[in-house]
Amino acid sequence: MAVPEAVPTTVPPAGNPVIVAIDGPSGTGKSSTSKAVAVRLGLGYLDTGAQYRAMTWWMLENGVDVADQAAVAAAASKPVIVSGTDPRAPTITVDGTDVAAPIRGQAVTAAVSAVSAVPEVRTRVTGLQRTIAAGAGGGIVVEGRDIGTTVLPDADVKIFLTASAEARAARRSAELTGAEAADVAATRAALVRRDAADSGRKTSPLAKAADAIEVDTTELTLDQVVERVAELVDGKRRPR
Ligand code: DC
Repeated sequence: MAVPEAVPTTVPPAGNPVIVAIDGPSGTGKSSTSKAVAVRLGLGYLDTGAQYRAMTWWMLENGVDVADQAAVAAAASKPVIVSGTDPRAPTITVDGTDVAAPIRGQAVTAAVSAVSAVPEVRTRVTGLQRTIAAGAGGGIVVEGRDIGTTVLPDADVKIFLTASAEARAARRSAELTGAEAADVAATRAALVRRDAADSGRKTSPLAKAADAIEVDTTELTLDQVVERVAELVDGKRRPR
């Protein structure tokens, strides 16, 4: 899926506030699509994966053994995670520190499935997500794994993005640099492993809501996916 040089800058059409849930596994274009749709329609944007990554970063920074569920559960209420919801410049801080870069590193990526499987972590982060969505006056696009099923089951529009494992691995590799980027096979293996962990966990697994619209992005460009999703969202907005 080709990534455009700039996010579209269309003037947002008028319409009622709308809550949009976009779920799916890694590498389906969720973040790029969610941001572009939010910009186009004048909505806020929340990356819930970044919140789980921020929680994981804090655990690693503070020497919590991420394999020890009880230790992770006991610490889950401690980090203060703040997400900025401007789709043109989303931000994330933990205890006031900007963690946008470190949460994308290998250490966090390797540990995030274990941390996000702990029920106390999910309860805490789900609470943050619901508060942000409830406070988003103009509406918001929330992307994740369990938004349509668990976090915001009453969302106005639910989208579930899919793509073949090959396409997803190629996209993830394109986001990486150096030796990591070259090893598409390793990226694919890591991605499939993480999806299996995310789909197989007991609490709030990655899943398509019964009323979600599935969009297979394997053969589509980012612009085509954005167009499709924006149309679906716009169709749900009644004019003011
Ligand atoms: O979208 P991402 O790759 O940045 O997400 C990081 C991890 O967070 C992912 O492996 C699963 C977890 N996650 C989750 O459990 N629930 C969400 N709503 C979003 C992400």
